[in-house]
Amino acid sequence: MRTAAIIVAAGSGDRLGAGMPKALVRVAGLPMVTWSARAFDEAPEVECIVIACPPGGEDDMADAVAGHADVHAIVPGGSSRQRSVAAALAAVPDDVEAILVHDAARPLITPALVTRMVARLRGAPAVIAAAPVADTLKRSDARGNVEATVDRAGLWGAQTPQAFRAEVIRGVFADAAGDELDSATDCAGMAERRGVEVLLHDPGSPNFKVTTPADLRLAEVLLGTGRIT
Ligand code: C5P
Repeated sequence: MRTAAIIVAAGSGDRLGAGMPKALVRVAGLPMVTWSARAFDEAPEVECIVIACPPGGEDDMADAVAGHADVHAIVPGGSSRQRSVAAALAAVPDDVEAILVHDAARPLITPALVTRMVARLRGAPAVIAAAPVADTLKRSDARGNVEATVDRAGLWGAQTPQAFRAEVIRGVFADAAGDELDSATDCAGMAERRGVEVLLHDPGSPNFKVTTPADLRLAEVLLGTGRIT
């Protein structure tokens, strides 16, 4: 399948407190976004990479990936993650058959994960990286105390990449109104609401989103000592 990868990298990274867009914060010697761009570049299935960056940050983004990945387009992102996906989607060539959407904030993605997910997409409209929830779950009340224990059976934490047949994700975004692009936190949720079957794919190795300084240190250790595949 002719495959494109979208990397959404337009977030501010305020929670990380680095004073620069999170995607450009260095991890194990490279800007965070570069790890994802490299993984897609090395995956044989991926023909085209599109990156959504903070508006006005196109040159910095181009510098970050130069020499590491062949990038088709760098586009200004939007005011929400899903608006950034929509902007990148518009720059994906018409003839691709599969589109993967990935957070720049997940630098532990591997080419092998991309290959496995594209293979599963041959038999399904959508496949997302996700991991079964390991902790016991509590719901809190308004005071921040435990209100209830939630049964974790069948619960998964959604990650990225999220892979779709091209016509599926294009149809979903063509149908979405602005408020949905402001409120939805992933593409799969938008697809599910329209009845699309979404498969779960456990990467089997760390694929967490870098959100806090502690996450950054952990990613630094894992990437610096060689990725677990
Ligand atoms: O903020 P959060 O970490 O959940 O964002 C997930 C991903 O979406 C990040 O890679 C971030 O750069 C991206 N994003 C974006 N445009 C926004 C907000 C977030 O591309 N307006």
